[in-house]
Amino acid sequence: MATKSKKQSVSKNKQKQPGSTVKIALLGFGTVGSSVARVLAASKFPGLQLTHIYNRSVARKRTSPAASSVPASVVWTENIDDILKSDVDIVVELIGGLTPIEGWLRKALAAGKSVVTANKQLIAYRGASLAKVAAQQHVHLAYGAAVAGGVPVIPGMQQGLGGDQVSRISGIVNGTCNYILSRMESGSEYASVLADAQQLGYAEANPSADVDGFDARAKLCILSRIALHAELDPDAVTTQTISTVEAIDFTYAKELNCTIRQVSRAQQEGNIVHARVAPMLVPLTSPMAWSHGTQNMVVVSGKFGGDVVFSGHGAGGEPTAVAVVSDILAVAQSCKSVQLPVRRRAVTGEFLAPHYLRFVVDDKPGIVSAIAGALAKVGANIDSLLQRPGHPKHRLPFVVTTEPCLTSTIELAIESIARMDCMLEPPLCLQILVAEDKPE
Ligand SMILES: NC(=O)c1ccc[n+]([C@@H]2O[C@H](COP(=O)([O-])OP(=O)(O)OC[C@H]3O[C@@H](n4cnc5c(N)ncnc54)[C@H](OP(=O)(O)O)[C@@H]3O)[C@@H](O)[C@H]2O)c1
Repeated sequence: MATKSKKQSVSKNKQKQPGSTVKIALLGFGTVGSSVARVLAASKFPGLQLTHIYNRSVARKRTSPAASSVPASVVWTENIDDILKSDVDIVVELIGGLTPIEGWLRKALAAGKSVVTANKQLIAYRGASLAKVAAQQHVHLAYGAAVAGGVPVIPGMQQGLGGDQVSRISGIVNGTCNYILSRMESGSEYASVLADAQQLGYAEANPSADVDGFDARAKLCILSRIALHAELDPDAVTTQTISTVEAIDFTYAKELNCTIRQVSRAQQEGNIVHARVAPMLVPLTSPMAWSHGTQNMVVVSGKFGGDVVFSGHGAGGEPTAVAVVSDILAVAQSCKSVQLPVRRRAVTGEFLAPHYLRFVVDDKPGIVSAIAGALAKVGANIDSLLQRPGHPKHRLPFVVTTEPCLTSTIELAIESIARMDCMLEPPLCLQILVAEDKPE
């Protein structure tokens, strides 16, 4: 029985004639969902019809001002089976999270419906397996809005860069962190900028997913799958919080002709992918330094095509809705995205890079030579030492930069330096991005 209904839905899907109406269901009528409804209503794309909206406590949504753009013919429901058993062709998931979404979308795909989603966690953790189900069912799974919101980095890489051999990707894919760090450039401290970001709706009440790098990590894994054809375990990707960066670090970074950004980067070397999400010193000449506020930016480096930069609004209802509606249009027109074989790859957070080390000490003679000794012991060479005047000796921040060395090497030295009596807070260790930066 199950086989028969599967065959029926696949054949139903294949029978969609050009010019016939493609029916759409929205799951989730929040920031992005309501914007998608608005964009669909405003643009009146021929052949697309929004027929269903699913949300919990749907009566509240139906009477909200955001519902004014929704056609009267749309069926509002809080019963997911009304969608799964309907004749909709495309299920557009804009709720977020893994459970219960994964189960619902598997059922939708199994019922021969294509799926469009902006759900980065779902695609980072379950994307490969959902794509397999979609392929078996001859339907589409599109997730162009899952990374960088309105910036078409996913379709751009799939379609426009499929012909290159991409060796590395690096970028700013979390607007909250970019807002916080670019505001800190003008001297504000982390806590006050975070409070502003929360008030403006750029940061959650619990900001951990953003500031500790987990949101960006999911996006980096999606980008690695598309650009490097490498399937990574998101939990294996090293993350470093931005919450330990202080205003003084921007002052020292500027002296080094740099600023600080949360950088997500991945580089393939043989069967291993070097991947990391962390605040880094970024040269002022890098496009990433020019990205301010909630902007996103991804730099893709290809063997044949060189560097390609994608940038724009990484979040927000309408920019994200544009990416979602573009996916809906592509699916409705049966546009096949370029698919190349993807392989599971081991991940390491190891990079060979110069490092920025900031210490806050109760100043006593011999501290610098003790730090130099700890670095020399692991084979790390000091490149420069920066100490700005005007700080009290009993709480003195100063900076050491190193020549390129392995992340693990520098971490060993930092562990021993952190144990020194004069250290008033844990040392801050940031990698410095340089153009020729290579993984080991
Ligand atoms: N916002 C952005 O800028 C942006 C950018 C890129 C990608 N995304 C992704 O887009 C998706 C939606 O984000 P959003 O910002 O639109 O979120 P949102 O404003 O919180 O909207 C989510 C909607 O889903 C409903 N919902 C939540 N859990 C539900 C459940 N278990 N059953 C039924 N309905 C449920 C919510 O209803 P209630 O009102 O009752 O909570 C709300 O209407 C997420 O995957 C997000 O990561 C968002």
